[in-house]
Amino acid sequence: MIRLLYFSTAAYSVTKETVAEIVEQATAANSVHNITGALAYNGRNFCQLLEGEETAVRRLVANI
Ligand SMILES: Cc1cc2nc3c(=O)[nH]c(=O)nc-3n(C[C@H](O)[C@H](O)[C@H](O)COP(=O)(O)O)c2cc1C
Repeated sequence: MIRLLYFSTAAYSVTKETVAEIVEQATAANSVHNITGALAYNGRNFCQLLEGEETAVRRLVANI
């Protein structure tokens, strides 16, 4: 089990609607892999906390 926190800068094409879609998709997909966490967005940057089994979390972060 690991807890991973990262910050990233959004691409200019990201809108509030994009973020809402990410959250909806991520909530469903993460629960399948027993991953929990939180995603914050300030209009420019993301901060995401992910917790779960190490292999699953590292696979997800590589995908993101
Ligand atoms: C900032 C950010 C955070 C994301 N967080 C998650 C997440 O927690 N879980 C998830 O399944 N997808 C997340 N995604 C979406 C993934 O990048 C990816 O689109 C999604 O996992 C679908 O991948 P697939 O097409 O290979 O199934 C995030 C995307 C961004 C930009």
